[in-house]
Amino acid sequence: MKNIIKAKFVQEMCDTTANMYRLGWDERNGGNVSMIIEDKDVEKYLKNRKVIRTIPMGFDASALKGKCVIVTGTGKYFKNVKTDPETNLGIIRIAANGTDAELLWGFKDGGKFTSELPAHLMSHIARLKVDPKNRVIMHCHPINILSMTFVHDLDEKAFTKTLWRTITECMVVFPDGLGVLPWMLCGTNEIGEATAEKMKDFRMVVWAQHGIYGAGRDLDETFGLIETAEKGAEIYLKIKPFEIKQEITDENLKEIAEWFKVAYKDGWVD
Ligand code: 13P
Ligand code: ZN
Repeated sequence: MKNIIKAKFVQEMCDTTANMYRLGWDERNGGNVSMIIEDKDVEKYLKNRKVIRTIPMGFDASALKGKCVIVTGTGKYFKNVKTDPETNLGIIRIAANGTDAELLWGFKDGGKFTSELPAHLMSHIARLKVDPKNRVIMHCHPINILSMTFVHDLDEKAFTKTLWRTITECMVVFPDGLGVLPWMLCGTNEIGEATAEKMKDFRMVVWAQHGIYGAGRDLDETFGLIETAEKGAEIYLKIKPFEIKQEITDENLKEIAEWFKVAYKDGWVD
């Protein structure tokens, strides 16, 4: 049997969480990542898919029944994933009842999946309806996006347009914009439901005074989405104290969208 640590999906989770930590997005145990993986890929490493433990999830994820998900553990530090993936990550399969997770690998120290599993799985369900190729949900605490939620209007059109105006690339990378939620208690089914509702329309959802969620087809794409928004937010905060002499106008935003053939949110550019 092949060594699962060498599996592409484990290695990618290790590299991505290391990069997220390196960029300061994930202090201590901050942040969590989940990625749907094909059963046929899991089979190469775990032939019998023996269930190690069954862990109740406390919400219904029937739409993902039978699906395997590699996910970070609750309380685990991203800085440690690469050196000990088997403790800090787990592979769960959503059980037939839709409310239990069957642990197939990982969480070696008796740990379990992230406390934000409701937001992850509910967001997966929402994104899969929009894009059947969506595989990844990523949550982190990037400093600039987070800071921006203290000083910027939380109206999602206004929030998005501020970012679009910071770097040309923002319109190219996220023409669909960002959803924004007001501060809510994290780790609950309620914030999971609210996030998933926004995920029907957006691939990124900002949690005011907390962080951001991103969705994508793979880890690179999802990481890149958040990275671009975070850079835009950094520029916004850098220029905010100064008098703006020139900026990317609505006319420019339209030019960018036309040139790069991307469709921005209806009615968001005048
Ligand atoms: P977990 O350690 O449970 O993944 O929680 C971290 C976090 O970012 C909560 O929002
Ligand atoms: Zn968080």
